[in-house]
Amino acid sequence: MEFPDMASMTPEGRPMMFDFEGISMTHFFTDNWENVRNFQARPDDILIATYPKAGTTWVSYILDLLYFGKDNAQTKPIYERVPFLESCFQKFPSGTEMADNLTTSPRLIKTHLPLQLVPKSFWEQNSRVVYVARNAKDNAVSYFHFDRMNMVQPESGDWNSYLQRFMGGKIPFGPWYDHVSGWWEKKQTYSNLLYLFYEDLVEDTGREVERLCSFFGLSTSPEEREKITKGVHFDAMKQNKVTNHATIPFMDFKISPFMRKGKVGDWKNHFTVAQNEQFDEVYKQKMKNTTVKFRTEL
Ligand code: A3P
Repeated sequence: MEFPDMASMTPEGRPMMFDFEGISMTHFFTDNWENVRNFQARPDDILIATYPKAGTTWVSYILDLLYFGKDNAQTKPIYERVPFLESCFQKFPSGTEMADNLTTSPRLIKTHLPLQLVPKSFWEQNSRVVYVARNAKDNAVSYFHFDRMNMVQPESGDWNSYLQRFMGGKIPFGPWYDHVSGWWEKKQTYSNLLYLFYEDLVEDTGREVERLCSFFGLSTSPEEREKITKGVHFDAMKQNKVTNHATIPFMDFKISPFMRKGKVGDWKNHFTVAQNEQFDEVYKQKMKNTTVKFRTEL
C-alpha cells in the first residue's frame, strides 16, 4: 500500500473536512461516492456498521473466524478481507472495488456511514447487518488517539479542543449521537440488524460470540467458539499482524498503537471534572429522544 496523494491536505499534510450531506467528511470517504451510492449489495452480504473506534476490527475478525476459519482469516490483513466500503485512498483499491472483487460468501463489508447514507441496495436485498456501538466517552478518547496517529485523518488538536469537536459532531462521520441513535431506530423495524455493544463484548466475549452465532444461524461447536474467543482477546489481536494494522504506512505507532488499550472506562484518565460535567450536559440534550442506553464502566 502506498501513501495517498497529498491533494486536499492541510499544511500539516492532513485532509481537510467539509460538509457532505450534512455530515463532516474528508475526501477519502466521498471521492468514490457514485460507486458507493450505487453499490450492489447481495442478500447474503454482512454489513459491519460502526461509528469509528467502536470495535469494528474486533467484530470483523470474529465474523471472519466464525465464517471462514483460522486458516482463511489469517491469509491477509483484516482490512483486505473486510473492505471498508466508502474508503477511497489513492493508489489503493477503493472499498467498492475490493468488495466487488471479494470471492467469499458471505462478503463481510465494513462501513462507518450514518444510517441515512448507507447504499439503499443493502435494504432492498435485506442484507444482514451488525452494528457495534461504544459509549460516547470511551469512543471519543479512542478516536482522539486514532486521529493523533493516523495521518489520513484530520489533525486531532489537543484533547480539550478535540472533545469540543466531538460534541459538535465536527469529525469524520459526523455526530456520534445521531449515528448510534439512527442505527438503534433502524433496528426497531429491520429484523436483520443485530445491535451489539462494545461494553458487552469486553464484559463477556464468549457470550457475544454466541449471540452472533445465534443471529447468523451458525452451528459452531462450543469448543470452536471457545478457541475463537481466546484468539480475539485484546492481547492476541495486538500481537497478530492480521489485526494490529502494523503494516499501514500512514499510521504512526510511535504516537499511539492501533490496538491501544481495549478497555471500558479509559475516559476517566482523560476527562477533567469540568469536561465530564459539560459532556454529561450535552449528552442529556442530544440523547433525549432515543432509548438506547450505554454503560461507561463495568
Ligand atoms: P482503544 O483505542 O480504546 O484501545 P475500531 O476497530 O472500530 O477502529 O476500534 C478500535 C478500538 O477497539 C480500539 O480501542 C481498540 O483497542 C479496540 N479493540 C480492538 N480489538 C479489541 C479487542 N479484542 N478487545 C478489546 N478492544 C479491542
